[in-house]
Amino acid sequence: MKSKGKIFKNIGIGLLVILVVIQFFHPERNQSGDISQDISKKYPVPDSVQAILKASCYDCHSNHTEYPWYNNIQPVAWWLEHHINEGKRDLNFNTFSSYRIGRQYHKLEKIAKLVNEGEMPISSYTLIHRYAKLDDAQKKLVADWANSLHDSIKASYPADSLKMAKRKPQ
Ligand code: HEC
Repeated sequence: MKSKGKIFKNIGIGLLVILVVIQFFHPERNQSGDISQDISKKYPVPDSVQAILKASCYDCHSNHTEYPWYNNIQPVAWWLEHHINEGKRDLNFNTFSSYRIGRQYHKLEKIAKLVNEGEMPISSYTLIHRYAKLDDAQKKLVADWANSLHDSIKASYPADSLKMAKRKPQ
């Protein structure tokens, strides 16, 4: 029978090999930079709001992520990719104009709500990206902007068209 020490040593070597091998696998970067359907193509986005969205939201909700150095280390890159894909699936400012109107309407309401409640940007992100954390004045700026677009959509479209479509099962 093998001694316990030897088994642990083999497991350690096995893990090390896995860690080395996965360094060769990197997900494609989210940097297409396509802004042809950007939210600003359809709605006014004041510079002050745009600056906040860029600094605090775009890493996960746009077609352009500014990657930190540790994205070069696996499995961190996979973990970041997962967040970015999830964030983009739920809300992408660079494709916002292509959403159907009911979706735009609903997302604007969510933006105001989540920013006000301090739930976005997510806390695991602001822990490292301190500058991305919003102070009360910034929260108000973004929430007021989102609410005013939300209200203007409500005033311009029939209520029926603003109903949420049922989510497709994934
Ligand atoms: C580090 C990545 C990250 C950053 C930065 C970030 N988000 Fe998110 N966001 C996510 C993820 C992941 C989800 C989906 C999962 C969830 O709800 O937690 C999400 C969901 C959302 C949703 C919900 C959409 C829906 O339909 O449910 C809104 C709205 C949103 N984010 C707005 C923002 C805004 C506004 C900012 C900037 C002030 C921001 N987020 C910054 C990752 C991020």
